[in-house]
Amino acid sequence: MKLKFPHYFLCGAFIFTAFNSGHAQTKSSQQTETKIASIIKKLTLEEKIALLHADGIFSTAGVPRLGIPGLMTDDGPLGVREDVLPGWGSANLTTDSATFFPNGSALAATWNPALAYRFGHDMGEEANARKKSIMLAPAFNIARTPLCGRTYEYYSEDPFLNARLAVQSVKGIQSQHVAACVKHYAVNNQEIERGRVNVSVDERALREIYLPAFKASITEGNAWTIMSAYNKLRGAYCSENDYLLNKVLKGEWKFKGIVISDWGGTHSTVNAANNGLDVEMGSRPPYSSYYFANPLLDSVKGGKVSMKVIDEKVKRILWVMYQTTLSSNQPAGKINTTEHSKTVYDIASESIVLLKNDKHLLPLNTSAIKSIAVIGDNATHTFHLGGFGAGVKARYEVTALAGLQNRLGKTVDIKFSQGYSGLYRQRGGSVNPATKPADSAMVAKAAALAKTTDMAILFIGGNRDYESEGSDRKDLSLPFGEQTLVDAVTTANPNTIVVVVGGAPYDISQIKKNNHTIVWSWYNGSENGNALADVLTGKVNPSGKLPFTFPADLKDSPAHALNAYPGEKLEVDYKEGILVGYRWFDTKKIEPLYCFGYGLSYTDYKYAGLHTNKTSYKPADYIVATVKVKNTGKYAGKETVQLYISKANSAVERAEKELKAFKKVTVAAGETVDVSLNIPVKDLAYYDVKTSKWIVEPGKYKLLAGTSSRDIKQTSVITVN
Ligand code: BGC
Repeated sequence: MKLKFPHYFLCGAFIFTAFNSGHAQTKSSQQTETKIASIIKKLTLEEKIALLHADGIFSTAGVPRLGIPGLMTDDGPLGVREDVLPGWGSANLTTDSATFFPNGSALAATWNPALAYRFGHDMGEEANARKKSIMLAPAFNIARTPLCGRTYEYYSEDPFLNARLAVQSVKGIQSQHVAACVKHYAVNNQEIERGRVNVSVDERALREIYLPAFKASITEGNAWTIMSAYNKLRGAYCSENDYLLNKVLKGEWKFKGIVISDWGGTHSTVNAANNGLDVEMGSRPPYSSYYFANPLLDSVKGGKVSMKVIDEKVKRILWVMYQTTLSSNQPAGKINTTEHSKTVYDIASESIVLLKNDKHLLPLNTSAIKSIAVIGDNATHTFHLGGFGAGVKARYEVTALAGLQNRLGKTVDIKFSQGYSGLYRQRGGSVNPATKPADSAMVAKAAALAKTTDMAILFIGGNRDYESEGSDRKDLSLPFGEQTLVDAVTTANPNTIVVVVGGAPYDISQIKKNNHTIVWSWYNGSENGNALADVLTGKVNPSGKLPFTFPADLKDSPAHALNAYPGEKLEVDYKEGILVGYRWFDTKKIEPLYCFGYGLSYTDYKYAGLHTNKTSYKPADYIVATVKVKNTGKYAGKETVQLYISKANSAVERAEKELKAFKKVTVAAGETVDVSLNIPVKDLAYYDVKTSKWIVEPGKYKLLAGTSSRDIKQTSVITVN
């Protein structure tokens, strides 16, 4: 019997559980193990095989005879996707709408792990309401190239920020007894040829850059499932990669859950089964001929895959079921609640990045403004669906125009002109609407409108057709002739604010040069327009910081500078090694357009007095660094203190700086707060390829506290003995 406490008892039972939880947990996990062992004994080989492969686009068959349910997976990560029919067409239900959560890079731009937890928690509640036991989320492959079509789904170019957000997203989802499926393991950093490309990456870069968030989500976040990536690593498909699956994931990290293939990403029976894949998923029937269906049955009968291997997979599946659908603690779930909308609003409002505010046009002086021309397709475009890849049938999505009307419509005359068409559809290959010329009639109409109003707010950027799974962008240019529109509107009305909406870097160098006011926004979920309007009007002071570098020129980006993307003859060599993102730009002294961690506020912060609790440390110690942050302006705000370390005279190549801690704090106008950040000394280690160990070098380390990776306000030096 599982130990279970009634809900009302939980708070009062804290002390009781604190004393007993270790014992109770061991006892209940032993009981689960015993149950699983007895189920495995009762299953026929055919029934076991049925558990190991898809029987529908998102499901596996259970074993009704023994009351074992199938797995019910669903995308992720923008919310619980709409239900689909075989062939991916909409099931046209009226019961499958859900909350649309901000995209991954938006969440990352909040630099707020507590929001990542709420995102996961609320999505977990929605998954339960929709009867899904595994959410195919979060997705957090490293942004190796800004062109990757799924940059918007992923979090960051930095492994530390990535890991902190991944762990909390996983914990949030799983707090609802819904399994997170972290994806895509590993090095799925481009969409071009993702199903065939072979990645060569040195072990140090793999360990220091590409794996940390996966490791943390397993060892700290306890993720119950993981999705193998489509691509190959060092010659073997990730779905049959003994090194990734057996040695690292199940061996080193002691992963107890299920490895699920990406959809259609299995390529063999015996290899995949023996090398660590547990469940084969895909969307093309007939499911009985999947590698893990009849061919696996035959391979077991033929002695090529042992019963022990099969039983181990079944054990993992049953174990995940006991955490989810078979758990007596799984809540009924909730969907489209006001609390979920509030989470979306909070993420969206903390994600928006103020890039430039030279004329202090923002926050808008709403008492003086009588009329605004809202211009650009992205003011009315919705982002919950689009392109190729998971979307959500949003119960609602407030567009930017609707948000401005909600907030200002009573006092300001708001007029709209589309300015460009963001209509674009193409699947597969690389795509380039950047070459699409501006529509001169639409531009002229928009500019004429801008002439008649007090100010213009332009909404340009990408959309979810242009940034899409299955294809990478060809370059960073603004699509749909948007630059022409920006120039025309800015000429027509010098009081023009440019809001760029996207999930990945774009080349906005012309805008940075010519325009005084620039805001960056994202595919920001159901509450997109409300959050945006509140940032523009100053109800919310912007606090988003870029989770990746915006290069001034694509050729400055490491993979592009080294001609190491997208590879040749299906081979891509990660020649930049550990120097990904700002690690490259800083070390090579290349000026980016906007650096990692950049983002302005309506107020200013002054940093002072960075100090550490000690000056010399042993490898098992924690460094506690404290810095004073003073809000010197008129507005309360949230500041993210970023703490980087720098190691001179290292035995190995080092990036000029690496993020090791960050903390977001609220600071009232005029207030000073002490911000303390912890760094375990072991986090200063590099991965030594010769010994396959993490090594903390003795010697001096510089701590750099800043408001971005390139605006370091305070430094301090510590020694490790
Ligand atoms: C994607 C996965 C997704 C799966 C199911 C694949 O094409 O790579 O991220 O979870 O489809 O929709």
